[in-house]
Amino acid sequence: MVKQGPPKKTVVVSGGTDGMGRGMVLARLKQGDAVIAIGSSPEKGRQLGLEAAGLAADDRFHFIRADLSSIAENERVVTKIAELHPAVDALVLCANRQSPRREVTAEGLESTFALYYLSRYLLSHGLRAQFDAAPAPVIINIAAAGLKVGEVNFADLQYEAKYSTIRTQIQAGRANDLLGRSLADDPSSKVRVVLYHPGFTKTLGGITHLKQPVKGIITLLSTMAAKPVEKAIAPMVAVIDDPPAEVLTGNNQGKPVDLAMKTFDPANARKLASVTHRLVLTQYGDSPLLPNATKERTDTSFLGGLDSPRQGDAPHRPIEFS
Ligand SMILES: NC(=O)c1ccc[n+]([C@@H]2O[C@H](COP(=O)([O-])OP(=O)(O)OC[C@H]3O[C@@H](n4cnc5c(N)ncnc54)[C@H](OP(=O)(O)O)[C@@H]3O)[C@@H](O)[C@H]2O)c1
Repeated sequence: MVKQGPPKKTVVVSGGTDGMGRGMVLARLKQGDAVIAIGSSPEKGRQLGLEAAGLAADDRFHFIRADLSSIAENERVVTKIAELHPAVDALVLCANRQSPRREVTAEGLESTFALYYLSRYLLSHGLRAQFDAAPAPVIINIAAAGLKVGEVNFADLQYEAKYSTIRTQIQAGRANDLLGRSLADDPSSKVRVVLYHPGFTKTLGGITHLKQPVKGIITLLSTMAAKPVEKAIAPMVAVIDDPPAEVLTGNNQGKPVDLAMKTFDPANARKLASVTHRLVLTQYGDSPLLPNATKERTDTSFLGGLDSPRQGDAPHRPIEFS
């Protein structure tokens, strides 16, 4: 039942217009929360607004249209969230899109890396002031925690050598595992982090851009074998009310994930955090979303021979990290 009165919690959902993100938005609106949904499609945002109105929750719902594969757009989103709410209790990270061929953003980054991993890094750090203003904040990163397959290939983070849809998705999943470890080991706020693998779930938003026959096969498999969104997200809907005491936890389809797995290796997590920070500086320039922004700004010696970053520069040359 929808609660009246002041919102219970403030929840931000990236990729909140479809699939599990949309499910989280509606579930938390029903709980009486104020919810911000972020997605790139204005039409999906409008539809969700109508659903919020149907729940008598339109005054607690806000849609931000944004392309989260863009660093500038993530900055704009964080600014808008801060204007709307001084405190954020939960950030649910769902935005993802499978890309059948390699695409590069206007900022010079491979699009799956930029959307599925980098946006999550930027929002997780960029909302640090809003997390610290909330009593028990939590980030729920819905990806593939607990899977062993794949790794982060530091020599080809942008998939310049070998591109495949599956490989980019797997690598971004492993990057999100390392992001969780890094947020726990080197936190920029008091936020708790829950990494969640929902298992095969009946959502179709991420495959609309795929070609046949792959699209048809996934649609058929989804109809036959995938679980409903409500079932997949149920544990995460509950986590918002009662975040774990531990800074980092992993959950694979209801089972705890062993964080000693190689996929959460602390050294790799530190390395990815450092490389990501440097990548943003070189490809884009300084950003208030970056953790330790002031410290890094004054110490650019780690950039080696790379150009000094300047905000607004055109995308720089491709960079390889080893
Ligand atoms: N479904 C599964 O079986 C499954 C299994 C394991 C893990 N996962 C993971 O769970 C998460 C959620 O999956 P899902 O299946 O629920 O996703 P989905 O149905 O494909 O929805 C993806 C969401 O991301 C948004 N989005 C896509 N590109 C965007 C962009 N450039 N900027 C902003 N928003 C963008 C979409 O909204 P717009 O269209 O409005 O942009 C949509 O709201 C993903 O990370 C996925 O990898 C899913």
